[in-house]
Amino acid sequence: MEAIFDIPVKGTTHSVLHEVDWKNLPFGRYVSDHMFICQYKNGEWQDPQIKPFQNISVAPTMLALHYGQSVFEGMKAFRMKDGRINIFRIEKHHQRINASLDRMCMPPIPYELFATALQQLVSVDKDWVPEGEDVALYIRPLVFASEAKFGVKVSDEYTLIIMTGPVSTLYQKPIKVKVERHYIRAAKGGVGYAKCAGNYGGAFYATQKAREEGFDNVLWMDAFEHEYIEESGTMNLLFVIDEKLITPPLSDSILDGITRDSLLTIAKDLGIETEERKISISEIVKALDDGCSVEAFGAGTAAVVAPISVIGVDGELYHLPTYTNGSVMNKLKKALEAIRSGRTEDKYGWNC
Ligand code: COI
Repeated sequence: MEAIFDIPVKGTTHSVLHEVDWKNLPFGRYVSDHMFICQYKNGEWQDPQIKPFQNISVAPTMLALHYGQSVFEGMKAFRMKDGRINIFRIEKHHQRINASLDRMCMPPIPYELFATALQQLVSVDKDWVPEGEDVALYIRPLVFASEAKFGVKVSDEYTLIIMTGPVSTLYQKPIKVKVERHYIRAAKGGVGYAKCAGNYGGAFYATQKAREEGFDNVLWMDAFEHEYIEESGTMNLLFVIDEKLITPPLSDSILDGITRDSLLTIAKDLGIETEERKISISEIVKALDDGCSVEAFGAGTAAVVAPISVIGVDGELYHLPTYTNGSVMNKLKKALEAIRSGRTEDKYGWNC
């Protein structure tokens, strides 16, 4: 994409690029040299800038800190086979951040601003984009209510910051998840589909308890019957039962995952039968008890795919088979990677 306008850039004089251990890129360890920042005031986004990554000064009364108007995105840029850099699915991420902003009474970001900021920032920090399998430049757009006022109100001022950092996938090995029957992540009519900060903070307590019991993550159930599968940790959830790919349908309590959407699209094209429908945990337990072939995996930008090795259900542990190269999950992951790295044709127009 061509830049629509030029954002002023102040380059760093103290690059920390040399500190990166490129062979070990745990999620969130490194932040690239520059950030994009822009303010929303008097009804418009203004003063976009790219400058050295740095601390910001905020008032203790800043509304986001008190009332939680804070929304973010998770995106990735990949170094392609021909050396170009691809920011994956900008349009879809733009739609999603605006849906989250809308739900939190925050102003939308114009597409030109979002796309230009991403393209220019990634180009300024292009040396931070890692090369190889399972690595990427993670991109974190963040919007928060920056008006300084005690009153309980919708903020009139916002700050958009975009920061980036090289990462490997979130999980390095198959994960153990615990079916959570008591605590819930999101309810009908709530904010579960929005990528707002509170959804993540609100999930910490149950996740911490699951970790104390030896699990990596929670498998979130619906808020009403505590029986239907929603998400796992910060990811969407997909199952393969007897070669059929099944995932819960999108709703107001499930995030519209872009990896989820990409995998479903690829699966349909590969001739894999897909179903978006409610899945109860009893159905999964029965399939495992009946000896059906079952795969279970999380999907998200940070994780890409996270194979599940164990599901804990009401004190019982259900072990899933090892994921071979021939597993549906691995076939889909490979096909997605081939598109993002430019090794196969991007017939969907996802690479930007
Ligand atoms: C992502 O996958 O990008 C997410 O937003 C999850 C993150 C909180 C690790």
